[in-house]
Amino acid sequence: MTLIPFALVRRTARLLAPLRYLVSHGWLRESSVDAVLALLHPAWRLNRVFACVRARRWVAQDMLALTLMPNGNWRGAEPGQHIQAYVEVAGVRLSRSYSLTALNADGSVEIAIKRHFGGRLSNRLLDYLAVGEVLEIGEAFGELHWPADADSVLLLAAGSGLTPLLGLLRSALQKGFSAPVELLHYVRDSGQHAFAQELQALQQQYRNLTVRSMLSSQLGRFSPGHVQDVARSHALTCGPFGFVSAVRDWWESVAKTPLQFESFSPPSSTHAVSHSPLLLRFARAQQEVLGNSASSLLLQAEAAGLRPAHGCRQGICASCTCLLVSGAVRDQRSGAVLSEPGQPIRLCVSVPMGDVVVDI
Ligand code: FES
Repeated sequence: MTLIPFALVRRTARLLAPLRYLVSHGWLRESSVDAVLALLHPAWRLNRVFACVRARRWVAQDMLALTLMPNGNWRGAEPGQHIQAYVEVAGVRLSRSYSLTALNADGSVEIAIKRHFGGRLSNRLLDYLAVGEVLEIGEAFGELHWPADADSVLLLAAGSGLTPLLGLLRSALQKGFSAPVELLHYVRDSGQHAFAQELQALQQQYRNLTVRSMLSSQLGRFSPGHVQDVARSHALTCGPFGFVSAVRDWWESVAKTPLQFESFSPPSSTHAVSHSPLLLRFARAQQEVLGNSASSLLLQAEAAGLRPAHGCRQGICASCTCLLVSGAVRDQRSGAVLSEPGQPIRLCVSVPMGDVVVDI
């Protein structure tokens, strides 16, 4: 039961400024204020963003679209971005990032959640989060953007990599983008073709859009031969790391414009891995451990008992960014070697190339 309507919660965020002032000067504790606000409405908080679930609908056999209306603390989002969702399960706070598939005119947003075997957070949202309940989310992040001046656009998605591209596509078409757009969506079987009906409807409504459903069980993995018109001026791709890497290699060999890409699975190292132990020093924690050049600094810091801030664990949200004090790391996404002292690095996609000191 709620004591005040959610519409009021959305409108009152600015009115809480005096309370924020008191909290920032140490006269009140944010957790105490939040506890009182939450009694009045479960989505009301001083600074944190909570959202009410407005709708649930299955968009594939294994994918659910959730419509969320955030409280008044939400700063908004751009198409193609992602948000972090937070849920406490058995006393443990879990988080996972989801792409925004739609930004609606009424201020609500849509995310799509894919079922993962053993996925504690996703499966909880799929099976237990009901319409009317609330969910904590983070501010939007991500750098994919629609190339509004492109002569033509190619979108290559695999699995749930469709979701940020769909958010961009919907928004661009609504805004009147009229150059040719070709979308190829790879899935293992036809039941995984998420948003198939919406995409068909978009294709009928917008003559410049071509949607092609690609069954990898029949066609195999991405191959340049699948693309009908390789003269597309801009391309965006999203999917597992192997898929994105294959698209990147092909695009770099045929195109002059940069490819926008995001991968939602951790990069696998294609570089030689040294098995000699390395020395990792976490400066602020004043801790030194033996490490390796096979796994990310985030994983190695966590294995050492540290809890560095992080979000997506995919190199997208930047919440694990810290400073490299000395040594060299390889960015697993691009292969670039970073060795400038004081340089920001993302722990979740940086592997050490020797002894390294980082500022965590
Ligand atoms: S956790 Fe998101 S960039 Fe590292």
